[in-house]
Amino acid sequence: MAKKTTLQQFESVFPKLQEDLLATAKQYNLPQEQQDWYKKMLEVNAVGGKCNRGMSVPDSVSLLLNKELSEEEYFHAATLGWLIELLQAFFLVSDDIMDGSITRRGKPCWYRQEGVGMVAINDAFLLESAIYTLLKKHFRSHPSYLPMIELFHETSLQTEFGQLCDLLTAPEDVVNLDNFSLEKYTFIVIYKTAYYSFYLPVALALHQLNIATPKNLKQAHDILIPMGEYFQVQDDYLDNFGLPEHIGKIGTDIQDNKCSWLVNKALEIATPEQRKVLEEHYGKKDKAHEAEVKKLYDDLKLEKIYEDFEEKSVTKIRALTAQLDESEGLKKEVFDEFLQKIYKRSK
Ligand code: IPE
Ligand code: MN
Ligand code: MN
Repeated sequence: MAKKTTLQQFESVFPKLQEDLLATAKQYNLPQEQQDWYKKMLEVNAVGGKCNRGMSVPDSVSLLLNKELSEEEYFHAATLGWLIELLQAFFLVSDDIMDGSITRRGKPCWYRQEGVGMVAINDAFLLESAIYTLLKKHFRSHPSYLPMIELFHETSLQTEFGQLCDLLTAPEDVVNLDNFSLEKYTFIVIYKTAYYSFYLPVALALHQLNIATPKNLKQAHDILIPMGEYFQVQDDYLDNFGLPEHIGKIGTDIQDNKCSWLVNKALEIATPEQRKVLEEHYGKKDKAHEAEVKKLYDDLKLEKIYEDFEEKSVTKIRALTAQLDESEGLKKEVFDEFLQKIYKRSK
């Protein structure tokens, strides 16, 4: 029987990986002060999140093998999971600078912490390099070593294209609703979120087990990308309709001029008068303007439209999963597990 990992078990692997990274820094004679910085920077930025993405690697590997993992299997799966967490840390450190964000995981963003500032840009690069240092250390002799490197490179590029589109579609100074469209929205969320959060963990689990056949990878892709899209729509819904005490942050999408699912839906169904309300109040850094948009969202019954979307998405994803061909070792349970974690989430 498969066994689910706990956050505590997953986090217990991190110090070993941190030590490996420090050993590399020592080999290069990195001065002690910078070694201390590197050690702390890795910890502050990679640890402390929910680790849903990282933990889904050992969970998927265990489901695919239908057994509890041996210590070695667990260590390797968790290492791959931590590489995703490092990739995410690299994106988040830079994203917070670009978005001018204030807090992350309940603490000041790394670039806003004392003595950090723009050193955070180089730190983001160091977080990215850590992926390849660890991959080499632990997977150099694995048959999928090269495909794993290529997968991290490709996923990075995809996420960067998603970020590019996100950033250019939500400029801080010019609000132009014509910039938004559901088509652009779909591109942004698939590229900036779905690939690294949903496809990458399962693709890595398949590689670890040497069952990353073209067919399995494609099947995983075709279910996980729509699932990632649904996940990000939830995120946008929760940004406005979620409870801050549940989501751990206060929604900022309206004030930040974000190409959110809600604004795209609103634009789709708004009368010309309602569109004027959006033109006047969307993307302004002010509570009163934001309140006008929130009121419009209520008038347009976006909450109900979201609930219908959620049911439709989940039905579609379940149907895709039901059709899965398991002949090359992929299993429906992997996708059921992902969906179960996010269906009707409130945080
Ligand atoms: C985060 O995107 C980007 C990546 C991790 C690639 P957002 O800017 O939309 O998310 P938050 O609100 O800062 O977490
Ligand atoms: Mn951001
Ligand atoms: Mn961003």
